Amino acid sequence: MSDSLVAVVDLDLPGPTISRHVYGHFAEHLGRCIYGGFYVGEDSDLPHEGGIRLDVVEALRAVAIPNLRWPGGCFADDYHWRDGIGPREDRPRMVNSHWGDVVEDNSFGTHEFMHLCELLGADPYVSGNIGSGTVREMSEWVEYLTRGDDSPMASLRRSNGRDNPWRVPFWGLGNEAWGCGGSMRAEHFADLARQYATYVRNHGDNTVYKIAAGANGDDYAWTETLMKSLSCLGCSREPQSYFQGLSIHYYTMTGTWGVSKGSATEFDVEEYYVAMRRAHRMREIVAGHAAVMDCYDPKRRVGLVVDEWGTWWDVEPGTNPGFLYQQNTLRDALVASVHFDAFHDHADRVVMANIAQTVNVLQAMILTDPDSGALVLTPTYHVFEMNVGHHDAASLAVRVKGEVPTREVEGTQLPLLSASASTKDDTALISLSNLDAQEARTVVLDLRGRDVTASSARVLTAATLQTHNTPEAPDAVAPVAHDGLRPHALGLELDLPAHSYVTVSLELG
Ligand code: AHR
Repeated sequence: MSDSLVAVVDLDLPGPTISRHVYGHFAEHLGRCIYGGFYVGEDSDLPHEGGIRLDVVEALRAVAIPNLRWPGGCFADDYHWRDGIGPREDRPRMVNSHWGDVVEDNSFGTHEFMHLCELLGADPYVSGNIGSGTVREMSEWVEYLTRGDDSPMASLRRSNGRDNPWRVPFWGLGNEAWGCGGSMRAEHFADLARQYATYVRNHGDNTVYKIAAGANGDDYAWTETLMKSLSCLGCSREPQSYFQGLSIHYYTMTGTWGVSKGSATEFDVEEYYVAMRRAHRMREIVAGHAAVMDCYDPKRRVGLVVDEWGTWWDVEPGTNPGFLYQQNTLRDALVASVHFDAFHDHADRVVMANIAQTVNVLQAMILTDPDSGALVLTPTYHVFEMNVGHHDAASLAVRVKGEVPTREVEGTQLPLLSASASTKDDTALISLSNLDAQEARTVVLDLRGRDVTASSARVLTAATLQTHNTPEAPDAVAPVAHDGLRPHALGLELDLPAHSYVTVSLELG
């Protein structure tokens, strides 16, 4: 075991609030995310309500899922909402050309999605079609969803069985407009985003937070172009309010797009560190976009929305390559914890984030067996659960005295400790990830500014980085109470096992 590090936390110096919406989710019509994941249909033998799988709902309620983005992704810019309303047997079919080239029967549409959000207690984040849809189509969808009187769209909704309008707080203006969402240049898309946003109206008391499709990874020029469409360099006035947020997408993989992204379960220690380095890159990417935005919006009125993030591995052998079904190991959990530390540290700009995707696709929370129906909670799920205390809490800086140990990975120094903290209602939560694959570490928590009246810790780890949960071993990676927490003259002393994620909960006097 190496020497102790000292992590200083000033419990009485709260920073910006960590929005619960950074713990948001994403469900696309892709593989078995909607069909066979969330939605099993009214004839299923599994417990369901209106075809929505209730054990999935229960698991996500347990992590206080704050919002759900739908229907894509790339699918959103092929989706025409009117195909997904009315009697199911009358709904037109379409080809899901992005994902497996399969026929989509539209049996899960607007009413089913809004019902799902109600069951989850989550805010809907609807992603509107700019790539192949019309301004009128988008405008009428918002009216259909949110208007209360006898307008044409409100009346159409009623004729389909829903009297009251729904609340839709988040609206996406396109998706990956630089790619599957229309192969546009930033300047053209910025004008379209302003145009479409003009017709996404606030009906009644429903106020829509509009999010323009943003950059691919570190494409800061895209962000600058969108910001220029709202404001100007060094402007002292408020940005124009066509849209209130802009997105970025960034995925973690060890390989490359197109060739091999890397296996979800068969990787060595070097590949593990590459994954950690690339996950850590999210911190640099968020900081880069935030810096550009600061130049055009110094008061931070425009939100950064990381509405797709997570690991993207090769699909599990024998599964449809277009369905993006992948396993989820302890390594994925550490990728998630590192991302959350970055989002917490940028709470003044990052207003929302959505992991891709919730069930059976990419870095899922939940995997279901297509034959038996068995449901497994992944290691990533447990990070979301362990972090619920950060939702809407005030961020606290964690400053490490001395040098955080690092390892050289891809020509850069990867810090082997990642941490963040927050406080809410006389409690505090500290999250620490020991990214060292082999070495345990001890950290002294130098807790200043308030009295700590009680403390406890939980740990998520496993014998190997490749460990994952299966129907036969559902708790191979699951959090347990951690007894490696002791009083110390400065506060507390904490053991971090190799490759582990630990949370420390404090009661404050
Ligand atoms: O999440 C899978 C896909 O990744 C989404 O459809 C798209 O937006 C992104 O490229």
